[in-house]
Amino acid sequence: MSESIGIAVVGTGDWGANLVRNFANAKGARLAALCDSDPLRLAQTGAQYPEARTVDDAREIAESDDVQAVVVSSSAISHYPLARLALEAGKDVYVEKPLTLRVDHAEELVRLAREKNRILMVGHLLIHHPAIQYLKRMVDGGELGDLYYIYSQRVNLGKVRKDENALWSFAPHDLSVILHLLGGEPIDVVARGSAFLQSRVEDVVFVDLRFPGGRLAHVHVSWLDPHKLRKITVVGSQKMVVFDDMEASEKIRVYDKGVDRAGQIVPYGDALTVRSGDILIPKISLQEPLRIECQHFVDCVRERRAPLTDGADGLRVVKVLAAAQASLERGGAPVALASLKQEVA
Ligand SMILES: NC(=O)c1ccc[n+]([C@@H]2O[C@H](COP(=O)([O-])OP(=O)(O)OC[C@H]3O[C@@H](n4cnc5c(N)ncnc54)[C@H](O)[C@@H]3O)[C@@H](O)[C@H]2O)c1
Repeated sequence: MSESIGIAVVGTGDWGANLVRNFANAKGARLAALCDSDPLRLAQTGAQYPEARTVDDAREIAESDDVQAVVVSSSAISHYPLARLALEAGKDVYVEKPLTLRVDHAEELVRLAREKNRILMVGHLLIHHPAIQYLKRMVDGGELGDLYYIYSQRVNLGKVRKDENALWSFAPHDLSVILHLLGGEPIDVVARGSAFLQSRVEDVVFVDLRFPGGRLAHVHVSWLDPHKLRKITVVGSQKMVVFDDMEASEKIRVYDKGVDRAGQIVPYGDALTVRSGDILIPKISLQEPLRIECQHFVDCVRERRAPLTDGADGLRVVKVLAAAQASLERGGAPVALASLKQEVA
């Protein structure tokens, strides 16, 4: 395809503005339209991109012939209706995380994209991050040995949302990485959290996930915390890795640390020896992950190929979020992923 893809961005708020900037500069794309229901926001963003027309109603975008792909970056509660509207109108669609706030809604979007033969991508940004791609190659290449457990911290004193709690706002990032690295869904999920600032909107949530083979993951999210942390620690039988997104350039540290079994001729406990070797800081591309992600969407639309973070990936993460939400509402009772479909439907 030689013509550029006409892109419309719906929701040009704090994060949407970053998407607009990246799509305006993506190769093979052209910013056709900007849409926001807030006239002030629309005027602000529109003034920076005079090449794009501005509209306040997404239905106008759905009806536009010069728009082939719609980017949904509105508040999470409106992801589902806006993405459905665009897919039904035959557009390719990029939706910010979380794909939806309900499993059946995510399933419907995936089904609709398949029926209409449209591209559906979710903004699981970290999967496009060069450091996480490096980590994934290490895991797949067996360099870490067997993966034992992963834990993440995504906390700060930050933007307090009303339509979604800290779980749905922050945890999609960590869960998408955990599922990507461990290559499958958890057996069950336990979550505890508390709503300190607003009734029924949890500000802090601790999630525990149990995977086949005894592997574990733990996710701590909060927008009520003195630290700003964006950290994922991966512990394998051979090596351990820390991804720290707050580091300007040294995002990944690989620790050649572990506990080895020396041999079977000594008593079992004596056969375990601690290995504390070198720490490696690999050189990782510092390209903006969002730029990579936006270009990936444009390339997938042009080449008609499934994105790395497609609708199925979005649905997988929504399922885990829904299980965690169900557990939260039951005071931390374990919720099996397999039981979820019947409960949500
Ligand atoms: N990938 C990331 O790292 C990342 C980071 C922050 C936010 N996000 C996601 O981006 C999305 C937007 O977040 P934000 O921080 O920019 O929120 P925001 O509240 O600053 O902006 C949302 C914008 O959408 C507009 N909007 C809402 N409903 C609309 C509708 N029906 N039609 C048109 N416009 C509508 C609002 O007027 C507002 O300007 C959220 O889904 C959020 O989860 C992703």
